[in-house]
Amino acid sequence: MSFNLRNRGLLDLESFEPRDVRFLIDLAAELKRTKYVGNEQPRLKGKNIALVFEKPSTRTRCAFEVAVHDQGGHVTYLDSAGSQLGKKESLKDTARVLGRMFDGIEYRGFHQSVVEEIARSSHVPVWNGLTDEAHPTQVLADLLTMEEFGEMPLHKLSFCYLGDARFNMGCSLLVGGVQMGMDVRICSPKALQPPKELLDRMQVLALRTGARISIEPNPMSAVKDADFLYTDVWVSMGEPQDVWKQRIDELLPYQVNAQLMQATGNARTKFMHCLPAYHNLETEVGRMVHESFGPSELEVTDEVFESEASIVFTQAENRMHTIKAVLVATLG
Ligand code: CP
Ligand code: NVA
Repeated sequence: MSFNLRNRGLLDLESFEPRDVRFLIDLAAELKRTKYVGNEQPRLKGKNIALVFEKPSTRTRCAFEVAVHDQGGHVTYLDSAGSQLGKKESLKDTARVLGRMFDGIEYRGFHQSVVEEIARSSHVPVWNGLTDEAHPTQVLADLLTMEEFGEMPLHKLSFCYLGDARFNMGCSLLVGGVQMGMDVRICSPKALQPPKELLDRMQVLALRTGARISIEPNPMSAVKDADFLYTDVWVSMGEPQDVWKQRIDELLPYQVNAQLMQATGNARTKFMHCLPAYHNLETEVGRMVHESFGPSELEVTDEVFESEASIVFTQAENRMHTIKAVLVATLG
């Protein structure tokens, strides 16, 4: 079964129907197979896509670039350093210019209202490559990955998201998990839980999809029997550095370590992370945090990150297949 998503952007998952999300995951799995067997059909020939990044990126940028190249299209990368963006020209004006030249625009930035403004002003499909509030293309990759490793339909699987659940990853995973009818557990201190309005909307949607939502601040009970433990950085891009101390104090009990993996009581539990991750002292930020506050591993220990249970690099690869599916479905 296929649904017509032509000329739609992807600003957040919530504006898509669960069946649209299902369609994109299935299409991504099909595109992954066709790439693996060398049978990919280019459906973006003649399409020009702008990639606008106001925050840094490794995976999202590369995933968009490779997906578009595989499908026969072209990309142009713009950031604040090498363009007029924000300094000499407003985003609204930039969006109107890009809309005259490009068939679609990927945008990564700060507030969700900005990506929405770009969509209104450009009149072409706009895909959200991460805002403070949402990271929809990441969650499509995560759902595909859970289905691959869970070896069961998503509505029979559970995940527990631990850490800062009020930012992009916690919120988008909640939405995607509920849309797919999953057992969704959010495990974070009260101050870092998803906004109440979003939770209320998801409780309503859960009645339709069969999802179960639990908000459980105690990690040891939240992870019981979970198929996947998911975490993200404790301080996100764009947040002030002076929140580190408080976040470490709040979130150290939510670190994914061997003891927490064991507390699932499920030998098949997998570990997930959108990446980048602070699991050792091989990053500048990791070393800064260690020197200033003490911990040498943050949201996940190196032991879990490097273990057999860790599926983070499949998640990273699946960014490309799922972004490709979004582009093919909306522009192809
Ligand atoms: N997961 C993710 O969005 O990674 P990047 O910041 O490298 O794009
Ligand atoms: N919450 C993280 C996600 C990175 C992919 C951030 O916004 O920095």
